[in-house]
Amino acid sequence: MFHHITRKGFFVITLAFLLTTLLSSMFFSKASAASTLGSAAAAKGRTFGAAVSTTHFGESQYLSTLDAQFSGVTPENEMKWDATEPSRGSFTFSAADMIVSHAQSHGMKIRGHTLVWHNQLPGWVSNISSSSDLLNAMRNHIAGVAGHFRGKITYWDVVNEAFNEDGSRRASIFQQKIGNVFIEDAFQAARAADPNAKLCYNDFNTQGINAKSTAVFNMVRDFKSRGIPIDCVGFQTHLTLGQVPSDMQSNLQRFANLGVDVNITELDDNANSSSSALQQEATDYQKVVQACLAVSRCTSITTWGITDKFSWLGANAAALLFDGNYNKKPAYTSVLHALGGA
Ligand code: G3I
Repeated sequence: MFHHITRKGFFVITLAFLLTTLLSSMFFSKASAASTLGSAAAAKGRTFGAAVSTTHFGESQYLSTLDAQFSGVTPENEMKWDATEPSRGSFTFSAADMIVSHAQSHGMKIRGHTLVWHNQLPGWVSNISSSSDLLNAMRNHIAGVAGHFRGKITYWDVVNEAFNEDGSRRASIFQQKIGNVFIEDAFQAARAADPNAKLCYNDFNTQGINAKSTAVFNMVRDFKSRGIPIDCVGFQTHLTLGQVPSDMQSNLQRFANLGVDVNITELDDNANSSSSALQQEATDYQKVVQACLAVSRCTSITTWGITDKFSWLGANAAALLFDGNYNKKPAYTSVLHALGGA
């Protein structure tokens, strides 16, 4: 049969085969393009998470959107000092445990937030007078909380917001009573409590190169030079509309070059619900995702909430990827596309 096929006929059959192969590969590759934030991020080796609050766990669309779209969670308030050790030595984890077990049952990574922060401290901490007593209380808190969640936390925000905008140390109770050493002491206590968690320093207004992010950079470089355990830096990235710094990628890269992971930890964008603002918001979110994807050690992006209506900024800020009715906003689409999803 074959020796009767002319040269032309063989060419036509080969061309038809190649075209069929090309078209089917295009179709299947399109069909298999990721269609959720979490799956698109996973295809890029990243986690895409959201801050969650047990306050809203009774709302079905809140959980269904979380479970469908996100591959990571950060407890918005449930792991903070006031929630976990309301009185000295007495630990309460029920709300945080609810988030952890939900995340584990849905294969989500968990960012612990946050072990040492000047805000949301119970009164008894603020009333401690001696340096050594506060140091003991801090160490015991870290051991109690990080120990309770041992093995379940991918990244811990060990210390949150310890620097001022000019790069000086914030005059928190920890800074004032213990001194500069409180940060490294906290990281050492966290490493002892959960050797498998990656330990992060977390702050805001540090997504670009400025006095604050450079102060953090210098601290991380110093920690690395002295063998102080630190594995990650969290960039909260609470954006003002239209103000994604042009040097965000190079800023993230300089930290990665120190040998730490970088995480976008609290991403939101204070827009308003006018259509022009929402288009700008979509562009802002796209830029942040592109900056993260350009840095191989940028392993995780977390938005500080799921739906606009529960944002800490208030519903009118329209700061997140889903509106108050859980509809996908232009920023959702720009993020999904930036992640390579369809
Ligand atoms: O738990 C009490 C409740 O008992 C009381 O009835 C209620 C009304 O007063 O307040 C509740 O506490 C609130 C808490 O959230 C828990 O819902 C506080 O008033 C409220 O101030 C607190 O706000 C949180 C804020 O941190 C505190 O600074 C926001 O939800 C949370 O999104 C926000 O998150 C921080 C990050 O942890 C760190 N980076 C900045 C980010 C935004 O501020």
